[in-house]
Amino acid sequence: MGRDQRDRRSRQLGGHRFVGGDLPAVNFRKDVLEGLARPQKALPPKYFYDAAGSKLFEKICRLREYYPTRVELGITKKSLKDIARFAGKRCALLEYGSGESLKTRLLLGALQPSVYMPVDISSDALRAAVKRLARDFPKLGIVAVTADFSHPLGIPAYRGKARRVVYFPGSTIGNLRRDEAEAFLRMTRGQVGANGAMLVGVDLKKDPTVLHDAYNDAKGVTAAFNLNLLARINRELGGDFDLKRFAHYAFYNPIAGRIEMHLVAREAHKVNIGSYRFSFYRGESVHTENSYKYSVPEFEALANNAGFKLAKFWTDPRRWFGVFGLVAV
Ligand code: TRP
Repeated sequence: MGRDQRDRRSRQLGGHRFVGGDLPAVNFRKDVLEGLARPQKALPPKYFYDAAGSKLFEKICRLREYYPTRVELGITKKSLKDIARFAGKRCALLEYGSGESLKTRLLLGALQPSVYMPVDISSDALRAAVKRLARDFPKLGIVAVTADFSHPLGIPAYRGKARRVVYFPGSTIGNLRRDEAEAFLRMTRGQVGANGAMLVGVDLKKDPTVLHDAYNDAKGVTAAFNLNLLARINRELGGDFDLKRFAHYAFYNPIAGRIEMHLVAREAHKVNIGSYRFSFYRGESVHTENSYKYSVPEFEALANNAGFKLAKFWTDPRRWFGVFGLVAV
């Protein structure tokens, strides 16, 4: 089924609109086979978030070591009035992400947007989020969009007079390369238009030990999250990955300014996916994700290149996390 066809398939549920369907499995297969055929094997991180992956991710967000969720929530609570003033009441709020978070609820309460559009790759996560939001915000109009937000065309054009504000929390922008992040901001600038704005949560550069611990939690939840990608390939693509033969490996690369997540083969072996076979040597890695960290001037420069200017900046006392208030120029 083509993208257009999928986008037209929308239906009513509890008075709220759902747009788009599940992403076709054929993309998953193609991306996995291509990624594993490269000299540096790699898997696209967007496939982390099936039902099991989304659950594990929620668990990560509650870990002691994983500070970003907590710190961003703290900033949002403390600066809620100011943030709401920046975005403007009754705006049209688009969120990239399922809207499952406490931060989003705070924002929805303070902003009372004229419409709320969560955009997420996982329709399971979206459905669960919308169900709860609809209960707690009965007057709120919600248009939930299942789409891969790295492809702008999956999102229906929003026509309305309200000011458009895009909310992009959780330092998800850090999961894009710098050039991709810039292109993504530029795309968003196009979506929000001349008087639009954007609220972006960004993890800031800091002591590498703190960063390292955040992606290497003692309970191994992040490891399970990473390994679930292989389990998903087994489930959906008929792979025979033996999860015990792979180790979670995450480290901070200070030159690139990013956390890198890998899955490393503990021993030489072969893996089948359908009729395809891939060889692993001992210690060979599959690169599964990057999480870029920014300094404030670095992120401001990126935003400027994309047609935004930095109007507001909120942070915590240790300056571990930043919420950037950007306006179109
Ligand atoms: N974008 C967040 C980050 O990079 C959340 C996240 C994405 C994450 N993938 C992850 C956190 C994998 C831990 C492990 O921190």
